[in-house]
Amino acid sequence: MLRSFVSATLILLAAFWHYGYASRILGVFPTPSISHQIVFRALTLALRERGHQLVVVTPDPVNDPMLTNYTEIDLHFLYADTDGGENWIETLAKERWTDIQDAYLSTVLTQTELILDHPELKKLYAPNNGQKFNLMMIEMLYYPALLPLATRFDVPVVGITSLGLSLSIHYAIGNPIIPSHSSNWDTEEMIFGEATFWQRLKNFIWVWKFLYKYRTRYMPAQQALARKYFGNDIPDISDIEKNVSVVFVNQQTPISYLRPNIPKVIDIGGFHIAREIKPLPKDLQKILDDSTQGFIYMSLGSNIKSVMLSDEVRREFIAAFSELPYTVIWKFEDDFLANKPENVIIMKWTPQQSILAHPNLKVFIYQGGLQSTEEAVSHGIPVIGLPVFTDQHVHANKMVSLGVGKKLNIHSVNRHDILEAIRTVVLDTSYKRRMMDLRNLLKDKPYDSLKNAIWWTEHVIRHKGAPHLQSTTVDEPWYQRQDMDIVFVISTGFLITSSLAIIAFYRMVNHIRAMIQPISQKVKIN
Ligand SMILES: *[C@@H]1O[C@H](CO)[C@@H](O)[C@H](O)[C@H]1NC(C)=O
Ligand SMILES: *[C@@H]1O[C@H](CO)[C@@H](O)[C@H](O)[C@H]1NC(C)=O
Repeated sequence: MLRSFVSATLILLAAFWHYGYASRILGVFPTPSISHQIVFRALTLALRERGHQLVVVTPDPVNDPMLTNYTEIDLHFLYADTDGGENWIETLAKERWTDIQDAYLSTVLTQTELILDHPELKKLYAPNNGQKFNLMMIEMLYYPALLPLATRFDVPVVGITSLGLSLSIHYAIGNPIIPSHSSNWDTEEMIFGEATFWQRLKNFIWVWKFLYKYRTRYMPAQQALARKYFGNDIPDISDIEKNVSVVFVNQQTPISYLRPNIPKVIDIGGFHIAREIKPLPKDLQKILDDSTQGFIYMSLGSNIKSVMLSDEVRREFIAAFSELPYTVIWKFEDDFLANKPENVIIMKWTPQQSILAHPNLKVFIYQGGLQSTEEAVSHGIPVIGLPVFTDQHVHANKMVSLGVGKKLNIHSVNRHDILEAIRTVVLDTSYKRRMMDLRNLLKDKPYDSLKNAIWWTEHVIRHKGAPHLQSTTVDEPWYQRQDMDIVFVISTGFLITSSLAIIAFYRMVNHIRAMIQPISQKVKIN
């Protein structure tokens, strides 16, 4: 009797437990870039495994009919709308970052409207359609007009980024703004190591000007879009943004430039690293196994392509590779590479993680992307970075500062520099040793970052938000956050007092002189 009562209670409890657990989560991840999406996807798939139901809005759907409780709204059309064909290497060589960023923001504004106008999404957020959620998870970059989706469903928001936070998000959530810090990936002048006073002054002006422009022009434009699609009585999008419960930031301490963060910023990272390495295609496996001298792997990632290299730089790489005793696997997105040396193998697509796992690999030549950096470190492979834009510079520099890689200039590199960099990294075994130490450091942590992210997500669901993680800095005006008003008042006060003192002193000297003058004149006469 007692036993059956206990078991009935247990079953009931388990049912409640499960009921309390299974939440409906809306994921909104708009950026058309697979390197962003694989991070979000790893988390949403893991949340589904936990028993939650997901509706995911993404330009890169998994499209797997076997995935139950996982509905996707396909935004793949955004790829056609962005600069998929843009030669970033060429653009970055001629244009200023400020102009590129302005152009990017205007593209994103157009995209935001296309997303809000997407028929399937519109159906989802139409009023009184019975759709219910417990949480919204959203990519926090430049799409704040999508935030009122949370208002529509009356749910707390978890933010996520696949790279370090942008300046606009740091500001929005009340995080300190440190204009000349090496962790910034979106400043005109990037600083790695110590900055001079002039660099800091330049960055200070640039950063606050950018934030001013963003807050007074870009946010209102996004707000107008939000009103158009969600109605006029939605709250200010910057108020929804500042109330975001937690923000997952893709950065792992040992491989990042560290900065102060408010508690709602939670580090994630390494999500996409394969737990099991897939076997290589047979022919490639044989080539790599046969490269007993070692091999080199070069890939510039998915946004930057090797075919974008200028003819001169491409020639320099070919010349350098032809002098090496190693096989070179080059992700080169064309069928043909003129003057390709014997030891170079070009492939349009490469199983990157499986290649990085091969024991004969000596060095990974890449663009400095975060996901590739994480993969290189997790397989203990030293790197040579050729950064092109955004956070690629940050990671390439961090790898150099840790002594696990070298950096080259993608616009002007010559065969001599390439050979020297490869020989140094391969022959000086300290690069490999430090990379293995870094790999061990990265693995040695108290919890798995994916499980940690799930815990925080469910924490926000359980408590229907996380105002206890909110910093009051978020409600302070810009000048108050960094005590600029106080510095201004003190320095103005100091300036006024010292000017008054100088004037008084000058007057006094004059006065005394006037008193002395007649006497000295008298003395002269005598
Ligand atoms: C889908 O979600 C429902 C409700 O949370 C749950 O009962 C069911 O087991 C889930 N199905 C699968 C295959 O995960
Ligand atoms: C933000 O959070 C505060 C405090 O929890 C609340 O009073 C306010 O209504 C929230 N604003 C929005 C737009 O959600």
